[in-house]
Order: sequence, then C-alpha cells, then structure tokens
Amino acid sequence: MQTDMLKGKLITLCVTGGIAAYKAPILVRRLKEKAAIVQVIMTKNAENFVTPLALETVSNNKVIYSLFNEGDNIKVEHIDIADKSDFIVIAPASANIIGKIANGIADDFLSSMILAYTKKVLFVPAMNVNMYNNPIVQKNMEFLNSFENYYFMEALEGDLACGYSGKGRMPDPPLIVNEIEYLLTEKPLRNKKILITAGATKEYIDPVRYISNPSTGKMGYALASQAIKLGATVTLLSHKGCLELPYRVNKVDYFTSVDSLKELIDKYIDEHDLIIMSAAVGDIKIKNYNTQKIKKNNKSWDLEFSSTPDVLKSIQHKKIFKIGFAAESNNHSQNAQLKLENKGLDMIVLNDISREDIGFQSDFNQITIFTKNNSKSFDKLSKEETAIKILEEYIKFT
Ligand code: CTP
Repeated sequence: MQTDMLKGKLITLCVTGGIAAYKAPILVRRLKEKAAIVQVIMTKNAENFVTPLALETVSNNKVIYSLFNEGDNIKVEHIDIADKSDFIVIAPASANIIGKIANGIADDFLSSMILAYTKKVLFVPAMNVNMYNNPIVQKNMEFLNSFENYYFMEALEGDLACGYSGKGRMPDPPLIVNEIEYLLTEKPLRNKKILITAGATKEYIDPVRYISNPSTGKMGYALASQAIKLGATVTLLSHKGCLELPYRVNKVDYFTSVDSLKELIDKYIDEHDLIIMSAAVGDIKIKNYNTQKIKKNNKSWDLEFSSTPDVLKSIQHKKIFKIGFAAESNNHSQNAQLKLENKGLDMIVLNDISREDIGFQSDFNQITIFTKNNSKSFDKLSKEETAIKILEEYIKFT
C-alpha cells in the first residue's frame, strides 16, 4: 500500500466538448503533482473550449486531438494508448461521448480507444441540466455504469455556464484526482466499518474560555482518508476545526467536551468493527461551569477541577477491535504497554510528544505500534504514511 499510488502511472485524460473543458489543464496539473504521466486526448469539439497547446504545455506530452487522419500509424496508436494506460478518465464527459460509448460507436480516436480499453474508465459528466436529466442520457449512463470497469462521478448542482441552474457542473479537479486514487487502490478493508476520533477535546470554563490541547486532528483525518481509500466505511468523530473532510467519508459528527465525545462513541460504537482513538482527550474538566462570562476583575481565579471519564476504558467490554494512541514524553514504551493493558486495547500507537518535529501541530509522526505480543518501530513518516502503517498492522488481524 502506498500514498503515492499515481506515481509513474499513465493516466489518459479524454477531454470532450463542453465548457467544463476549461478545467482540463488544472486537472492535468493536479495529476502531474501526484507524479502521474498524463496523456491527453481531445475530441474535435473540445478544441472549441480549450487549446491543444495549453494541454500539451501542462502535460508535457503530445496531445492527440484530431480524427483518424492525424498520422500514418494513428489507427495502431489508439490501441497502443489503450494498452499502455493504467487508467482512463473522461472529463468533461459530454452527452455525446456517453451516447456513443453506450452504443458501441467508434468513429474517432477517443471513442475507438475507449472501446479498445479493458481497465477502469471514469466518466465525469458535465452538461446543461436539461441534457443531464434527459431520460436518454440518464439511461445511457445507467447502462454504462452497469459494466464492471465503468465508473461515474455525479455532476454537481449549481449555476451552469449555459445560464441555467441545476445539476450538470463538473466536480473540481482535486475531487476527480481523489476519485482516481480511490479507484486505483486495492480494497482490503472493503467490509470494515471504522470509527475514528480526531482532534482535541475542549472543557469550557465559561462561554469564552476553555482548557484544551494542541492536537490539530491531522492524524485522525489521515487515518480516515487512508481507511476510505482502502475500502472501509468510515465514521469520523471530530473536533470543530478547519481541516478538509476526507473524501467519501460516510458520516461525520462533532464533539467538544470529553463527555460529548463519550456520548457519540456510545451512540456509534455498536455499528463498527474497529475504533481508532486518535483524539487527544483531556483528563480534567471544570467542576462548576460558569454560564456567564467571568469578568476579569473578579476576586479570584481559583478553579476547581474533576477528572473526565476514560473513554477507551469505558468501552473495554465491547467486542470491537480497539486501537488507542499513547502520547508520552518519558518512559515511552513502558507507559504505552501499560495503557494497552489497562485500557483493554488490541493495539496502541506510541507517539513521542517531547519532539517538536513530529506529533502535535506537525505533518509527521514517528511511531511504535504495540500489540499484546509484539512491537514494531517505524521511521519518521508523513501522517498519511503513518496512517497506512497502522492500518496495515490492523489488516494482519482481519
Ligand atoms: N483517552 C481516553 N479518555 C481519556 C483520556 C485518554 O479515551 N480521558 C484515550 C486517548 O484517546 C488515547 C489513549 O486513551 O487513545 C491514551 O491517551 P493518553 O493521553 O496518552 O493517556 P491518558 O489515558 O490520558 O493517561 P496519561 O495522561 O496519564 O498519560
């Protein structure tokens, strides 16, 4: 498993006629950023909306944009590209190309190549709302979708370039890249439902002040994204932050205090096979919450605290695979192993919080994974790569 699954892959981008073709160069850029090799093929109509030169420049590759009369070997070339491509994406996919493929028509380079292609093809339709809703177009899409190697992204609602408002907009390039990555990744977690917690709890003192910790939630979000790519159905319990929600996440719910996090876990836990408790859960809360803002000239700032519930410990009787995190600054391994045992976990991920270059606020982590009989240490990795290591260890138990 890898985070850079597009690296070195030949992605053939087919651009057909429609105003959304103006997004094609951006899609090429996003694919190139992932180190993919991009081959662009355009229909004659697409040339009305975006120039072959623009696509040639961004893809750094020859663009095929005319009919069969392009060159001597062009008839062979469409088979050659079909053979070599790791994935084909048609974006935008016009009603015309959808209709042609649905009817087995191969009257230009692009349609011939698609018919000669046996691996996965992603159609990203974009057109006028009335065309999109036309029962003929809908029927064609339904028919194509029934084939094992054909996939569709739904057009989005919104204002369309034709002046209409409704369904027909092409999803933005980053979403298309996400979908390509999703379709290219194997799915060892296909039948797994995973509950993931992410971020920091907050214990309010009064309406404007709270006690919390520096967790950003990045580790939990990376776990959610990678688990989804590997086929899992993910429920994410998150603090309210500003991270982008993982693509294709099944459900998201938000917590603030430890009590509210516990309530959510109690609500969802029975529907899941695995819980990954990556949230940084606070251990203390205020005894008497002040419903009014405490004025700064009040006589004393003496506050009384009580303990929060240990959420993981409270679910130790549940028959679900449990992965916890151990945030340690000293006696790392010993403390992590104690937590594994005391909290009734199947696995614990040790984080060293004494280092500034990893963990809280950073995009990196350096972990050791403990199970009941084993431990495994990893190098410093991005949080996405760390997430994959954790999920790979879990997969060994499934
Ligand atoms: N955790 C929890 N409930 C708490 C505190 C922590 O469920 N009240 C979970 C965390 O989400 C993490 C694991 O328990 O997965 C270990 O958290 P950590 O903060 O490392 O340890 P604590 O249990 O809080 O113990 P200590 O602060 O003494 O290290």
